[in-house]
Amino acid sequence: MSPKTSSENIVHTHRLDAHNTTILFGWVTGIPEIIYIGARLDDGMDVEMFARSRARPLGHATMDEHAPVSMQPEIGAGFMGHPGLVANRVDSDKPGWAGIFEWVETAETDDGVTFICRDDHRELRLDITVTLCRKSGVAVMKSRLTNEGADDCMVDWMSAPVIPVPQHLSEYLHFHGRWTAEFAIDRRTVPMGLVKSENRRGRTSHEAFPGTIMLAPTTDEESGRCLGVHMGWSGNHRMVLERMTTGECQLQMGVLHFSREGMLPAGRALETPEIHVATSDVGLNDLSQRFHRHVRENILKLPDAKKPRPVTVNTWEAIYFDHNIDALKELADAAAKVGGERFVLDDGWFVGRNDDTTSLGDWTPDPQKYPDGLHPIVDYVVDEKGMEFGLWVEPEMVNPDSQLYRDHPDWVLAVDPYPRHLGRNQLVLDLTNPEVFEYLYTVIGDLLKTYRTAYLKWDMNRDLVLPGDRTGLPAVHRQTTALYALLDRLREGFPNVEIESCASGGGRVDYEILKRTHRFWTSDSNDAVERTRIQHGFTHFLPPEVMGSHVGPAWCHTSGRGFHPDFRALVASYGHMGLELDLRKVSDEEFALFAAAVERYKADRDLWHSGDYHRITTVDADLLGACVVDAEQRSARIVMMQIDRPRSIVPPTIQVPGLNPNRRYKVELQTENKVAMHGSRKFRNRLMDGRLELTGAVLMSAGVQLPVLYAQTGVALALEAIDD
Ligand code: GLA
Repeated sequence: MSPKTSSENIVHTHRLDAHNTTILFGWVTGIPEIIYIGARLDDGMDVEMFARSRARPLGHATMDEHAPVSMQPEIGAGFMGHPGLVANRVDSDKPGWAGIFEWVETAETDDGVTFICRDDHRELRLDITVTLCRKSGVAVMKSRLTNEGADDCMVDWMSAPVIPVPQHLSEYLHFHGRWTAEFAIDRRTVPMGLVKSENRRGRTSHEAFPGTIMLAPTTDEESGRCLGVHMGWSGNHRMVLERMTTGECQLQMGVLHFSREGMLPAGRALETPEIHVATSDVGLNDLSQRFHRHVRENILKLPDAKKPRPVTVNTWEAIYFDHNIDALKELADAAAKVGGERFVLDDGWFVGRNDDTTSLGDWTPDPQKYPDGLHPIVDYVVDEKGMEFGLWVEPEMVNPDSQLYRDHPDWVLAVDPYPRHLGRNQLVLDLTNPEVFEYLYTVIGDLLKTYRTAYLKWDMNRDLVLPGDRTGLPAVHRQTTALYALLDRLREGFPNVEIESCASGGGRVDYEILKRTHRFWTSDSNDAVERTRIQHGFTHFLPPEVMGSHVGPAWCHTSGRGFHPDFRALVASYGHMGLELDLRKVSDEEFALFAAAVERYKADRDLWHSGDYHRITTVDADLLGACVVDAEQRSARIVMMQIDRPRSIVPPTIQVPGLNPNRRYKVELQTENKVAMHGSRKFRNRLMDGRLELTGAVLMSAGVQLPVLYAQTGVALALEAIDD
């Protein structure tokens, strides 16, 4: 008996291409399925034939028709894995809990497609939109469900378009973390069955970055197949990864709803966040470069895209709440002298704010600390020192000990009569309340109008616990979209102001917040060892120019240990560099060293912030780094950090990625020789006297020999092409 096939009847196909990527969709009568996503296929290929080649045999003990992993796999179609959509009609005699969508129409746009599907019986319409960025090859996908019926529909779960994961990608990178240890990565085998990752913290979270990378067991930074997916969403979310006995594997990402959050009234639509999907056949760095290009092209909207990312001096770890105008002026003097270009007045400037127990919500300068308002410090920073002025705010929060809360105790997210749980002594304002929204727009807008503020550090330091709106209904989803609306409105009103997204460090890092902001405070940890790891994880989806990286104090207050200033400066130098320590109190030698690091950052930032970024790992797990190569492959920069005691006395050679094999490059040590030489009794390598010249082919295969690196030291190298 010849096996019956499940998709031999594919009758419709659709193809999307970028220069490096092809996506093929196929379907019979229902919701389209992604039948291929990967490297660009040739123009002349027979798509129909390809679709038929996807036909699967039917095994025993299965249904007579196979339900495909469509972009919204359906219970009604017989799909027995995790469904893409779980919805119910409320107060209706219609069996709304399951059904089947029929494809109705395909609407094409310049760079994508929308598939329109309907379930007439359930009176639901589903629009699935996929766009493919021509430049990066990253696909952006979302689904929209419209309730065309007369009664409410409750959506318990709705995944963004579901990604079928090819079976050879049998491992995945699980991103996790915690405060001061964001972007930790576990490489895992995809188990049989279902794995879920969930976030109920009301912000993107330190714990569960909404993204993953599927990869083959042999894939590493510079070779092998992988597929990355990130969902741009700053609220609660769920990821489902399921390897089924059908031999298929699916990846779902969507908003996690608390009870009744998914209520969809008649005539209304619910849209999933966008997922961003990229693939590569040549390793994780190529995948990241695609995501970086996508961010540069489509996500990050800087007021002035040509402006270099300014060296940022932040007051937090220098003076904490102890604001005093004379001290601040001295700090601004030192900031300008070290090469600072932006001076950010962090927490502690507003009325009564002497510690973290009071005043959030009362956004006027403290009259004791600033009797003439912020003008004297703003004028000093801007006019005398020629730096931009930036200001810390935490608009979504309120301390019970504040005038705002005394006036409006009902403005917070809460579920009465239950306790209003405090986190860092604070509660969360209900942004879904129009009065709160207006108050925040006005108060932040007034600050921006009153003071010449080029930059806001927008902080958010409490999870959304018991987040009920005025009626007590859960409001995380609506709070998230209200935050976006508030930022959008402020961006519209003040288009030249840049915003940093901070949430106790990297608790709100995702593409949707990045559409409205311009930099992340990557982590509250300025511990250079922890930072090296965090930055390594961060760059999988995000480019270095949005990675806020500061030189912290000698003693790190979040980890209780300290590092040599050289090492701290090195680790801060390849993201968006800043300094966050009391520069008045460092020795002359240390100051000179920071000034030199700032100078190096300024010379190289255009390259780091526009080139192809490669993470470098070595046989020693504690020796890692990064490299950037410009588009013409003329210049490259490398930083290598030995974050713990090295495995071998002499470090391994470093294969330089991404060069042109036919070019000759001059390789120079950028960091001071004496530090690098400290552990090398003898090192008669041409690297040390600046006369090392090798071809790209040799540098990429044999690599560069580094000097001996003690634990918590590192080096920076510069490569410049010397031919043509
Ligand atoms: C949070 C931020 C820090 C700093 C403090 C100020 O913890 O992540 O960078 O701004 O708040 O209170």
